[in-house]
Amino acid sequence: VREIHAGILGATGLVGQEVLAILEERHFPLAELRVAGSARSVGQRMPVPGGEVGVQPMDDAFFAGLDVVFSAVASDIARQAANLARRHAVLLIDKSSAFRMDPAVPLVVPGVNDAALTGHSGIVASPNCSTIQLVMALAPLAGLAPLASVEVATYQAVSGAGREAVQEMEREAAAADAVPSVFPKRIIGNVIPQVETFGENGYSVEEMKLLHETRKIMNLPELPLAATAVRVPVYRGHAEAVTVDFVREVPTDEAAGRLAATPGLRYVPMPDVPTPLDAAGNDLVWVGRLRRSLVRETALQLFIVSDNLRKGAATNAVQIAERALGL
Ligand SMILES: NC(=O)c1ccc[n+]([C@@H]2O[C@H](COP(=O)([O-])OP(=O)(O)OC[C@H]3O[C@@H](n4cnc5c(N)ncnc54)[C@H](OP(=O)(O)O)[C@@H]3O)[C@@H](O)[C@H]2O)c1
Repeated sequence: VREIHAGILGATGLVGQEVLAILEERHFPLAELRVAGSARSVGQRMPVPGGEVGVQPMDDAFFAGLDVVFSAVASDIARQAANLARRHAVLLIDKSSAFRMDPAVPLVVPGVNDAALTGHSGIVASPNCSTIQLVMALAPLAGLAPLASVEVATYQAVSGAGREAVQEMEREAAAADAVPSVFPKRIIGNVIPQVETFGENGYSVEEMKLLHETRKIMNLPELPLAATAVRVPVYRGHAEAVTVDFVREVPTDEAAGRLAATPGLRYVPMPDVPTPLDAAGNDLVWVGRLRRSLVRETALQLFIVSDNLRKGAATNAVQIAERALGL
């Protein structure tokens, strides 16, 4: 097997740390692993498979000679990283939203649209965490009958907003007078129906990502989809209550059978229910509460849960690399 020279940008963050763990877990064939972070972390020592390395700044020296860089930083920094990656002909697998809707950049969920990877030009985007678990469940269902529409309400974990968000929840748990700065309101003991900022149509950025990314990944540019994205005081694991309407009636047992037979999914038959604690720490997308809608006979309802830091972020990025590098 070819040995890969790899780097993690944002290695000190929640997603970066998870990429590190998953490379080790999956025995990713590493010749070398470099890690980079902001000025704040440069020089810090970090354990990596087979030893320990120092955190580097994001510059030419970090990129030179690498085959692939996993980028787990915010969009503005990811754009700078893309310039460096191009200059050094390094494959960049980006977790941010910077390039997801760029028509020249594949937006990939391995197991759903692997074919989109062919002919990539050096950057591959990994979708938003809530999109990944949604399309993992929608794709097999769309094989039973064409989708007419999708409606989704999310219950998103605090870790989806990064390290500082988790620290904010912990501060609030310890002190009743802690003032929120990451989230618009206190998150502990609360539920906040706002994930990112709102646009003029009343939908948030996160809700519009669910629409546009799902359409691109599933190659259904007209798919009607409406989302309500909600933050809940859970550490890891996003949940989604989804109504999928089809152009014709799909038997519930057929849908259950298809979900149960899909690699990467764990179908949970009633009366058991999938929860974030079931999904935390593993790579499965848990699907349960499957039932026929009482509103429309052609619609099914389901509940989808997955670890936002793993399949929702790091695992998906590593799986993209494995396929793109032919490992
Ligand atoms: N969390 C999730 O569930 C999730 C899911 C999907 C996608 N994403 C996306 O993944 C990215 C990372 O998210 P996260 O949750 O891991 O955030 P995070 O915990 O806040 O980590 C951010 C990382 O970015 C680094 N960084 C900040 N400024 C930098 C700079 N100027 N140069 C180099 N590195 C810099 C930080 O390094 P320092 O430690 O040195 O500051 C840290 O390693 C974001 O684009 C996010 O939208 C996150």
